[in-house]
Amino acid sequence: MSEQLGFSVKSLRRDYSVTFVDDFAAALAAALRPGDTLLVDRRLAELYAGRLEPLLAQSPHLLLKASEGQKEFSRLSEIITFLVEKGFRKNHRLVAIGGGVVQDITGFIASILFRGVGWLFVPTTLLAQADSCIGSKTSINFGPYKNQLGTFYPPSAIFVDTSLLDTLSELEIRSGLGEMIHYFLVNGRAEFEFIRDSYDACLRDKVVLGEAIARSLAIKRAMIERDEFDQGPRQVFNYGHSFGHAIETLTDYATPHGVAVCFGMDLANFLSARLGYIAEDLRQELRPLLAKNWGQARLSQIEPGQLIAALGKDKKNVGRQIKVILTRGLGDMFKTTLEVDERCRGWLQEYFRQAAREGN
Ligand SMILES: NC(=O)c1ccc[n+]([C@@H]2O[C@H](COP(=O)([O-])OP(=O)(O)OC[C@H]3O[C@@H](n4cnc5c(N)ncnc54)[C@H](O)[C@@H]3O)[C@@H](O)[C@H]2O)c1
Ligand SMILES: [Zn+2]
Repeated sequence: MSEQLGFSVKSLRRDYSVTFVDDFAAALAAALRPGDTLLVDRRLAELYAGRLEPLLAQSPHLLLKASEGQKEFSRLSEIITFLVEKGFRKNHRLVAIGGGVVQDITGFIASILFRGVGWLFVPTTLLAQADSCIGSKTSINFGPYKNQLGTFYPPSAIFVDTSLLDTLSELEIRSGLGEMIHYFLVNGRAEFEFIRDSYDACLRDKVVLGEAIARSLAIKRAMIERDEFDQGPRQVFNYGHSFGHAIETLTDYATPHGVAVCFGMDLANFLSARLGYIAEDLRQELRPLLAKNWGQARLSQIEPGQLIAALGKDKKNVGRQIKVILTRGLGDMFKTTLEVDERCRGWLQEYFRQAAREGN
């Protein structure tokens, strides 16, 4: 993998590096110091047993199940107990190897243990490589409440090894690509055209996928360097997400995050067109890419009323008003308040009727 894809990210905590590597195990072997402790996705440890073996033999480590349950606040005490009992010290570092779940657990613990220890990250899902690995956020579940606790605490170094993506399911790849498409649309027409024209190649060619990952991260980097703590401008990245989260919940998480975000973007585009912010032509221009990525996933089992109810549960919303990101065009997303009145309900019904007609 081309080393020139690497870059560094400015952070108010500490600047950090993203390096594209051919062999994550070799990169880590060179970076590790005595006492550094690995937190590894258990499934990954099975799939890459051979490559991980020398690292696991050399360093204290804990294998974690990548589940939302494992990301629950009370479950962290087992991990912290393990670290303290193994003699983990303030000058030692945590090393996360896994997707967003292992990232969130490791980043959160790193931010609170001894008031903050260093950590390194090898993202192993496409979503983690192209999106979550940068941006400083750590999020932990509190009981049934997802991502309600968190800190801003970036790792000091990130090693992206795209060969790890070979073992992901097609759904996991679509989820990552959906998240990437969202960055490209938020950025503007040139990046939309890039992903539209290279989407198919991304599925079969690691060089093209590596470039797309780097471009997606570059878009996110420019924004987080401006608004690391999500105080305003960064909120445009919620494009597709209010609706997407509602769709994830209503399908019991059978629709993976990035796929749900593609439906969410289509819905945001539909409402933007109905409200006169964009021409219907633009919505129709963007739709084939979104539909290609949601593939066989379907919305047909969702009722508009359920969607409105699920949106209403979002903590950011009050009464009949919903905070959403709509668009005035590619690269021109903006936050607004949607009044859930009869007109809006009618539009949502129309959207779902259309989706059912088109077999979505
Ligand atoms: N902190 C952030 O900025 C941020 C951003 C987005 C999402 N998240 C969080 O990330 C989590 C989702 O993360 P995710 O989508 O990266 O996946 P994940 O960590 O939930 O893993 C998904 C599945 O893929 C498996 N897996 C991981 N790498 C693999 C590989 N290389 N080959 C085969 N299987 C592999 C895991 O074992 C798991 O079964 C959610 O909890 C979400 O809240 C955090
Ligand atoms: Zn997302």
